[in-house]
Amino acid sequence: MKILIKKSKEIKKIHKSCQLAAEVLEMIESFIKPGISTEEINNICHNYIVNIQKAIPAALGYKGFPKSVCISKNDIVCHGISNKNELLNNGDIVNIDVTILYDGYYGDTSKMFLVGDVSVKSQLLCLTAQKSLYKAINILKPGVRLYKIGQTIQKYVESKKFSVVRNYCGHGIGKNFHEDPQILHYLAYDYEIILKPGMIFTIEPMINIGNHDVYLTNDKWTVKTTDKTNSAQYEHTVLINESSSQILTIREEEKNFKIKNL
Ligand code: MF3
Ligand code: CO
Ligand code: CO
Repeated sequence: MKILIKKSKEIKKIHKSCQLAAEVLEMIESFIKPGISTEEINNICHNYIVNIQKAIPAALGYKGFPKSVCISKNDIVCHGISNKNELLNNGDIVNIDVTILYDGYYGDTSKMFLVGDVSVKSQLLCLTAQKSLYKAINILKPGVRLYKIGQTIQKYVESKKFSVVRNYCGHGIGKNFHEDPQILHYLAYDYEIILKPGMIFTIEPMINIGNHDVYLTNDKWTVKTTDKTNSAQYEHTVLINESSSQILTIREEEKNFKIKNL
């Protein structure tokens, strides 16, 4: 395992890709309405990334993934493939996961969108996923052991009676889409990895209303909950700096949150 420590020139470039990814999530917000197809959402994101941002949608062609962004609705946990016949309906929750490649570096982020009147349970699911991400980000600083991230997320999520998906994790990111270390969202083992300034990685907890079991569907990408309950995910790319951490994929709407006081 080799955890790369990024230099300031690289950090600037990763930050740029991260901001482009965050801007895609901001741009798409106004299109998220009942009746739009996930295919249309994918195409709007694709055209914005390629024509306006002059960047590369990193998901497209990654290990054969057929679309530019991942769109994962309701009981789809992650890696959803958009489709012209899959429409957003009132009450749906949907994750859009955007990874940008720009000037040789990657940035990766996702959030949930709530379509119309969403059940209280699914609203709470989305909020819990988002807060678990912030709670993990809040503990980040040099000297902290990596396993604390998963411990923090699992403790919070289970206190809300939801479950943490085990089969997928966050990852180091930079010149590569996915690099060391793996960021687990539950407590497994203390690998004795200690956070250091210049590390950049994603945290991207997936949490379910029911149990944490998931399965890969026949298309070999789409991951669903086994018990058919809804799943929610939020993802940020974060930098460990000299004293704490910085969210590189932060959106305008989040800057007013009292993230530190959660
Ligand atoms: N963006 C996802 C992640 O957070 C990875 C998607 S891989 C893809 O790591 F091929 F499905 F795009
Ligand atoms: Co990621
Ligand atoms: Co992602």
